[in-house]
Amino acid sequence: MAPRLCGCSRREFLGGLIGAAAVSAVPSAAFAFPSAAQTANAFVPYQFPKDFVWGVATASYQIEGAWNVDSKGESIWDRFSHTVGKVKGADTGDIACDSYHRYREDIELAKRLNLKSYRFSVSWPRIQADGTGKPNQKGLDYYKRLADTLVEAKVRPLATLYHWDLPQPLQDKGGWPNRDIVGRFVEYCEIVTRALGDRVTNWCIFNEPWVFTFLGYAWGMHAPALKDFAATMRATHVVNIAQGQAFRAIKAVNARFRVGTAYSMSYCQPLTPGAEDQAAAKRAHAMGNDWFLRTALKGEYPKAFPGENPLDVMGVKAGDMELVRAPLDFLGINYYRRQLVSAKPAGQGEDSMAVKHEDATEGPLTDFAWEVWPDGFYEMIMQITREYGNPAIEITENGCSYLDSPDAKGHIPDQRRIDFTRGYLSAVGRAMKDGADVRAYHHWSLLDNFEWAEGFAQRFGLVYVDFRDQRRIIKDSGHWYGRLAATGSLT
Ligand code: FCB
Repeated sequence: MAPRLCGCSRREFLGGLIGAAAVSAVPSAAFAFPSAAQTANAFVPYQFPKDFVWGVATASYQIEGAWNVDSKGESIWDRFSHTVGKVKGADTGDIACDSYHRYREDIELAKRLNLKSYRFSVSWPRIQADGTGKPNQKGLDYYKRLADTLVEAKVRPLATLYHWDLPQPLQDKGGWPNRDIVGRFVEYCEIVTRALGDRVTNWCIFNEPWVFTFLGYAWGMHAPALKDFAATMRATHVVNIAQGQAFRAIKAVNARFRVGTAYSMSYCQPLTPGAEDQAAAKRAHAMGNDWFLRTALKGEYPKAFPGENPLDVMGVKAGDMELVRAPLDFLGINYYRRQLVSAKPAGQGEDSMAVKHEDATEGPLTDFAWEVWPDGFYEMIMQITREYGNPAIEITENGCSYLDSPDAKGHIPDQRRIDFTRGYLSAVGRAMKDGADVRAYHHWSLLDNFEWAEGFAQRFGLVYVDFRDQRRIIKDSGHWYGRLAATGSLT
């Protein structure tokens, strides 16, 4: 691990670098430092190509509100947030940013920020209240209006088919650990892609399969709040089959659709250079970053356990490894932070992976206490680029929570978000210089919103939302990002 550079914060450190850049006026070279350790997270200016797509990402349950409007059914997140003690501050997504009613205003904001791509998700229980059968026309009409408004604004709609809000009745039948859900999910994907396919041609099948299976079924932190490792492992396999089958169904609706999935990725750095920690980091990468990707692209599971992967517990049957295949058109990467990984003795359940994870704290922390370390992002993109022969990548999420609020003049000077984004985009630029095929970047998120179990206690937006009256105010970071989106010039 690189030692701490100095007693200064990253903000001061970056500020110093940027100052140095201005003085020495070196437009595109890395800054020279005396030792390798000191180049950690060095900022490198970059001119993004003209066709690079600048965007933002959002998700239905986090912004829409209108939780029981227009015949929408109950989702597992409605049930979870309505259960006492599950979400900080007893917050719910009942209203959230009320984007169900204010989507025009929100798209207008994206347009003002010169953005060319808007990632949103479709709420399954708006389309099928109990997850099966005839679609709800009102739900489809909402997403048609949304997509039309985006197209009119010349902003590309990128629709995610599943960003965690499962219809509760399907959870009552077992949820993702129950294989029957595959047929339901495929049917839902066909309905949506058929209904919206004249407006939307870019699709993500899933958002963060690792997160919704592990946090929902193993750790109990997210809906449906279960703590069952065997069920989690089954869920991962069912999700993999659903990904493959949905891919084929969507392509059958229109072979020209571009289809990917947004994977949560976290660079797994061995805590020490020792062989055991190196092997543990590989297992952590296999489970956390690659478990739903190698299946899609290579038809096999990566090795995430010291012994064999528990295929029997997962319920893998003959022929399944053909079903899980999905030659995705692009890989979506959602990236927030790295982790330090070491080996520990194998135990039961999740401990059978014999892996210990630690949050790194060498860099400065966001207000969510997530470490700011852009080098991890660079390493992650390069690792995927190497392992998969330079695939087309879209950054489908990246961002930070800082709690800055309006000052006396109503401005939100969130310099830390600007520093964060500048640093992480510099990592993207470095990866592109080194050959990675990154086509797009979506900042998480356009608006402050409902941050899952954290409720409204975190603010990830480029735009501030006053949840008392739904007023939106563009933060300084939003203005900064809008200028960058116009020129592509990261300085
Ligand atoms: C990701 C989620 C997204 C948002 C960010 C902060 O894991 O995909 O919905 O909550 O984290």
